[in-house]
Amino acid sequence: MDKPRVIVTRRWPEEVELRLTEHFDVRLNPEDRPLGRDDLKAAFASADAVFSTVTDAIDAELLSTEPLRARLIGNFGVGFNNIDIDAARARGLTVTNTPEVLTDATADLAMALLLCIARRVGEGERHLREGAWTGWRPTHLMGTQVTGKTLGLIGFGRIGQAMARRAHRGFDMRVLFFDPFPPANAVLRELGAERRETVEAVLEESDFVSLHCPATPENRHLINAGRLSHMKPGAFLINTARGDVVDEAALNDALGDRLIAGAGLDVFEREPEVLPGLLARENVVLLPHLGSATRETRVAMGLKVLENAIAFFDGAEPPNRVT
Ligand code: 8YV
Repeated sequence: MDKPRVIVTRRWPEEVELRLTEHFDVRLNPEDRPLGRDDLKAAFASADAVFSTVTDAIDAELLSTEPLRARLIGNFGVGFNNIDIDAARARGLTVTNTPEVLTDATADLAMALLLCIARRVGEGERHLREGAWTGWRPTHLMGTQVTGKTLGLIGFGRIGQAMARRAHRGFDMRVLFFDPFPPANAVLRELGAERRETVEAVLEESDFVSLHCPATPENRHLINAGRLSHMKPGAFLINTARGDVVDEAALNDALGDRLIAGAGLDVFEREPEVLPGLLARENVVLLPHLGSATRETRVAMGLKVLENAIAFFDGAEPPNRVT
């Protein structure tokens, strides 16, 4: 039997690409140029599976392409807001994602952002590199203590819980969370986490707020001007989830008005564009969507896409089926 034809939209770690070639008739993207809309349509018309990333907008119009050969979308990422899931389902496509393998890397990065913004790490580094450092002094670049403070988590799934573990065990933080689907009480006890009934209740009590919810249509601009006004004036917002969970313009205004003290952002509403107002601020740390960007994790993500696709083409249930 012929190997299934697979199109991989971006470059992946070499060892995983090698593995892909063992199982599939694969078209890689060695130049790593994002596919244009027409190329993406052509991929769906000509391949049995498309392995996509967050940079591929797979919407209903794109999936209406005729003839449609693809039967599987293997998304390289746990988030799949780049795909219109209803349209995929309607066209009989199976979609898989890559949960679990990126939990620790993403929680590590969320903690890194929290520490960097609290301790003014970005500012300090810029200051030193600019040659502006004149020597140690007691009041220089004073930041905010992290240990013992209150962390509020919006979303308490795998990554939110991993963040809670780091904060509670490593930094002796009190942990609050909002999640409509909380885990079992034993998990809450283990992580020292207290549930709140509303997002606002978490915002009002927290010194740091970290977002770990999915980018569903309902969560678009979950953090808006109204909610930002519920945060403490000295509090910091951390976002490693998805850009559109936060109204970026409202956040920029809140930072300008000193409604909150700062923000650490790994994701943005219109990636790779970043609001110029944010770029100009000292009290933000901005990263280019690096949550899962460790070699180990990116390899594991690729292998997970592969594992799902092998199961799918063997006629078995893919372990990480989304539709
Ligand atoms: C990826 C992510 O960088 O998995 C996710 O949801 O945000 C990141 O791990 C990205 O999604 C790649 O498609």
